[in-house]
Amino acid sequence: MEKEVIILGIESSCDDTSAAVIRNGELLSNVTASQKVHEEYGGVVPELASRAHQQNIVPVVDTALKRAGVRKEDLSAIAFTRGPGLLGSLLVGTSFAKGLALSLGIPLIDVNHLQGHVLAHFVKPSPNPQPNFPFLCLLVSGGNSQIVLVRAYNDMEIIGQTIDDAAGEAFDKCAKVMGLPYPGGPWIDKLAKEGNPEAYVFAKPQIPGYNYSFSGLKTSFLYTLRDLLREHEVDTIDELAERIPHLREDLCASIQKTVVEILMKKLRQAAKDMKIDSVAVAGGVSANSALREAFIDYGKRYRANVFIPPFSFTTDNAAMIAEAGYFKYLDGDFCPLEKVPYAKTKI
Ligand code: KG4
Repeated sequence: MEKEVIILGIESSCDDTSAAVIRNGELLSNVTASQKVHEEYGGVVPELASRAHQQNIVPVVDTALKRAGVRKEDLSAIAFTRGPGLLGSLLVGTSFAKGLALSLGIPLIDVNHLQGHVLAHFVKPSPNPQPNFPFLCLLVSGGNSQIVLVRAYNDMEIIGQTIDDAAGEAFDKCAKVMGLPYPGGPWIDKLAKEGNPEAYVFAKPQIPGYNYSFSGLKTSFLYTLRDLLREHEVDTIDELAERIPHLREDLCASIQKTVVEILMKKLRQAAKDMKIDSVAVAGGVSANSALREAFIDYGKRYRANVFIPPFSFTTDNAAMIAEAGYFKYLDGDFCPLEKVPYAKTKI
């Protein structure tokens, strides 16, 4: 009888403590505790994130095992996010994974968080088809905006990336300026549905190759608001919103349209140059409805295969870490106990 491979995945790179169990690549459970403590600060506070991970990790792992109907003695290996991310947050997941693996006498598997996002497309069962190799993956989150060439499960190369802010960061910062809660990306998405995407025009970056830049767009957004405030002789965005109907909705729709256009243009260029007809999207910003629509349009227009993850796998989750760990397990690619987390890295 074929040996069962049961992997426990642990994710703690930012502000979500998550644990998942997969058996032979099939998801049995995926439990995430999101941290509300950061909302009042308008961004993630690293020290508070580490403390919350400390509180959450034991109950989250325990719940994931119970929901999966798996005893810890049944586990084949433990996969954990080693980086990139917040070092204090990563340390909690890494130390917990090491301790548990050591006590159970099973292998430890380190997973690159970004590879995890890409491999979220392979978590089964899924309502969506799995990408075929090679494909290009647009990886867009709060900390990253990259185009990744994916040759195989464990063979990826970044061919383009942001030289400054990430797309999610740009959404979050623009949302903050408009007085919207953190994280602002989902709010922009929501308000954009009621707005006119042609209402405002923002500067688009002129960066060579497949790299991105979003800092100029952020500045252009700020200047637009500054000019509107001057023109209407008011001091706050709330006062401005009383004078200009649909102000926030129109700003959201316009900034969202611009970000999506910037992202899709480079992806299209890369796919064309490399003659690759399969494209996927991953990361927190892949929840954005305009970006998802742009992918569907891309598929129709260029007769390409497009892969969009289920909503549950767009933000940080341990299912993708367990899945990535499963592929490394099959390759016998394990992690020695002395390996430490890393804050920054390439795929
Ligand atoms: O991958 P992710 O969960 O976490 C890290 O970056 O660590 O991505 C979070 C980012 C945030 O910037 C958030 O605003 C953005 O994803 N985001 C969205 C949407 N949902 C989440 N941005 C635009 N539209 C959305 N619907």
